[in-house]
Amino acid sequence: MRDGLQNERATVPLRGKLRLIDALVRAGLRRIEITSFVSPKWIPQLADADEVAKHARPPEGVTFSALCPNARGLARARAARISEIAVFVSASETHNKKNVNKTVTETLAAFEDTIAPAREAGMRVRGYVSTVWGCPYEGEVDPKKAVAIASRLLAMGCYQVSLGDTIGVGTPRHTERILELVLADVPPEQIAMHMHDTRGVALANVLVGLEMGVRDFDASVGGMGGCPYAPGAAGNLATEDLVYMLRGMGVETGVDLERLWEAGKVAESIVGRALPGKVHQAGVQSLRA
Ligand code: HMG
Ligand code: MG
Repeated sequence: MRDGLQNERATVPLRGKLRLIDALVRAGLRRIEITSFVSPKWIPQLADADEVAKHARPPEGVTFSALCPNARGLARARAARISEIAVFVSASETHNKKNVNKTVTETLAAFEDTIAPAREAGMRVRGYVSTVWGCPYEGEVDPKKAVAIASRLLAMGCYQVSLGDTIGVGTPRHTERILELVLADVPPEQIAMHMHDTRGVALANVLVGLEMGVRDFDASVGGMGGCPYAPGAAGNLATEDLVYMLRGMGVETGVDLERLWEAGKVAESIVGRALPGKVHQAGVQSLRA
């Protein structure tokens, strides 16, 4: 929802957002990032975050989380009774500055006002490190930066850090090198992968992560999304493509692929454009066609 809708041209009305959340829950997804408590001036598509979070109540066993950049975002998340927030920072200075108007050091320092108070209020906190595979402004990024930031976020109280290929430039051997470095310092259960599928290589990178012990992968229904402050960033890996691959490999996800496909149709209808996901387009049963 969050990564998906923040980069759509259309601002989806509240009712449409709630319909899609409902469809995702019915598909069996248990962790859904439903919105973002960032500045409505920066991300107008999610300006109704308070309303979305107040109306969408997660059923037992399901977690709804929201992106949260600072103490003001945390106050909004608390008022909306969100149980999990995610903080975010980039591995490259220029993307971080364009995205949150602060240096990386300032951003991490400001998390002192967000992570610990959220934990004290009983919330879980996840961290994102963006531009790990490359930066739209600086090009190559030293993976050691991601390792240092991820370790810092975990030390500050995040339960997991999601490593982002924000602009979808990663390829498998590159992914292997990054994960080797990260996993030398951090256990795999504290790592997730967040691969944008700009160049069609997201699933190949996920497979590398899976074989190296990573078990959490972010995805976006239909392949919606991107980062508005990363030029050229296309959608996340489509959730249907991820689940299709995992199902074929005999990996249990708890997600019903047919219902997920139907959720993709809901997503398409609320954003009003054809979505790029492969399984979304081909259908789950396309071999019979
Ligand atoms: P700023 O303008 O530097 O903020 O923005 P400020 O602290 O100077 O405050 C300016 C105004 O914004 C004030 O209001 C604040 O109250 C308000 P005013 O006095 O002018 O009326 N404000 C807020 N309002 C609502 N909620 C808040 C909030 N904070 C301040 N939380 C800020 C700094 C971080 C707020 C801004 O840069 C921002 O919102 N950036 C968000 C950008 C964003 O959401 N990007 C996309 C998500 S990240 C992503 O997509 C990558 C990821 O998917 C992983 C990957 O793909 O790699 C996670
Ligand atoms: Mg993203």
